[in-house]
Amino acid sequence: MGLKQIYHGSKEYHQMVRLRDEILRKPLGLSFSPEELEDEKSDILIGAFDEEKMTGCCVLTQVSNNSVKLRQMAVLKNMQGKGVGETIIQFAENIARDKGYQTLTMHARDTAIGFYEKYDYKVEGEEFLEVNIPHHVMKKKLR
Ligand SMILES: CC(C)(COP(=O)(O)OP(=O)(O)OC[C@H]1O[C@@H](n2cnc3c(N)ncnc32)[C@H](O)[C@@H]1OP(=O)(O)O)[C@@H](O)C(=O)NCCC(=O)NCCS
Repeated sequence: MGLKQIYHGSKEYHQMVRLRDEILRKPLGLSFSPEELEDEKSDILIGAFDEEKMTGCCVLTQVSNNSVKLRQMAVLKNMQGKGVGETIIQFAENIARDKGYQTLTMHARDTAIGFYEKYDYKVEGEEFLEVNIPHHVMKKKLR
């Protein structure tokens, strides 16, 4: 499996949007708006690949000079539970560190909290709804 940063508008980016749609949006009866995707132009876009096929992905969005937000973490259904998510989160943290960010934050789906806890993310504050499902803020100091 290979990991790499991909570019907005590229062939890989379209693959990523399809994967995110299939794993994160369609099951909730939702889809991406063109504006939402346009807003990702300055984000850091990360894909995991098995040869040409994208198996998982995530997005890093700058929040401030020292903080970045992890978003859109998704692994193909038939590849879940095989270590792809772990590889992606470690790659994303390394990129964030290299770029000088000190904190990584996210809005974690409650169903994924146990996954992020394995990598030392801590829940902060109260539950809230996003895309109509329960989430919590999670945070980690990058060292
Ligand atoms: C959550 C997700 C990204 C994890 O990726 P993955 O490739 O399935 O996870 P991995 O195989 O790398 O698992 C790493 C470890 O986390 C555990 N884990 C994986 N998903 C978990 C979950 N939802 N809750 C608790 N633990 C989880 C695994 O058992 C494994 O533990 P181990 O190291 O003790 O064996 C992936 O399952 C997914 O895309 N889920 C659906 C979409 C989603 O919820 N995205 C997150 C939105 S915030």
